[in-house]
Amino acid sequence: MPQYVRGTVTRQAHVSLPAGTVEEEHGRSGFYGRASHLYRRNAPTGWSAIDGPLRPHALELSDLPADGRFPEVVLENEDVGIGVWQVDRTHPWFLRDADGDLALFVHRGTGRLETDYGPLTYAPGDYLVLPRGTTFRLQPTSPTRALTIATVAEIEPPDRGLLGRHALWDETVVRIPEVEPHDERGDFEVLVRQQGRLTSIRYPFHPLDVVGWKGDLCPFALAVSDLRPVSSFSYHLPPSAHTTFKADGVVVCSFVPRPLETAPEALKVPFYHRNIDFDEVIFYHHGDFFSRSGITPGMLTWHPQGIHHGPHPKAVADAGTRSFTEEVAVMVDTRRPLTATAAATAVERGDYWASWQE
Ligand SMILES: [Fe+2]
Repeated sequence: MPQYVRGTVTRQAHVSLPAGTVEEEHGRSGFYGRASHLYRRNAPTGWSAIDGPLRPHALELSDLPADGRFPEVVLENEDVGIGVWQVDRTHPWFLRDADGDLALFVHRGTGRLETDYGPLTYAPGDYLVLPRGTTFRLQPTSPTRALTIATVAEIEPPDRGLLGRHALWDETVVRIPEVEPHDERGDFEVLVRQQGRLTSIRYPFHPLDVVGWKGDLCPFALAVSDLRPVSSFSYHLPPSAHTTFKADGVVVCSFVPRPLETAPEALKVPFYHRNIDFDEVIFYHHGDFFSRSGITPGMLTWHPQGIHHGPHPKAVADAGTRSFTEEVAVMVDTRRPLTATAAATAVERGDYWASWQE
């Protein structure tokens, strides 16, 4: 397709914006497809009222109850269920998800994730990825709070493209379980979820009795401290540059400590956009989230596709003085629109949509 230019623009996106304007990216397929940049006199998030289902949402996940039988889903579509798992003690039952892969992102707490393949120790900032059908149980040594991302399709590494295969995270930095076979006898329950319904299976022996395994499918842990973010001093990279995992219809990105743009003409905060092909969910793990005021660790925001999003006015004002960000956040972008569950509605912070007002 040819590219057209009308009116007052900058030739290089995200750099040297025309005086008195903000930049909006209006693009298809996330940040990969056809796009135009619109230079506006006003931030498109400067609304005075929103009435309807596209209102941006913020959820206080820590207000949800702990020690449920399975993770609590707050947002879902045909491809993914996003939720939280709050576990204070080792449950007597084991779990198996037959509906899809399950990624946990540990926000608080330490302990072990027991699996058929052996245990993985965990700490805050760990992703724990379980292939569909793995039997598992959390054994917390301190109350554990995890974001959960349950995908129908396989969770896979990202396409690293021009960066080369070892960028972002080298596949050999993941932690793989060692076998720890159990031989206890007793009464053990495994809860299997399939099509959203639970089936209870009882065994007279400990279900984690594997003495050895071989192959290329297994649970693994990946610490965000082992991620190697890419950045540029003179060009604001789109969120897709921070992709950690993908599954059909779902992209998981990690925002980790990294230098900000230092070239004076470069945009330092995310450009405004309306993700017309993706819903955007962000879980805030650590740090002060400089593009969002009023958000604290443990909260989750949801921006449905179709409505603009972008930095808060305070972030725009603060950006000029900053050269590094310590924030850690997890973003889940979904191709199909999400719907909120009753659990989400129960912990929604109703005034979030107004937080862009000056
Ligand atoms: Fe976005």
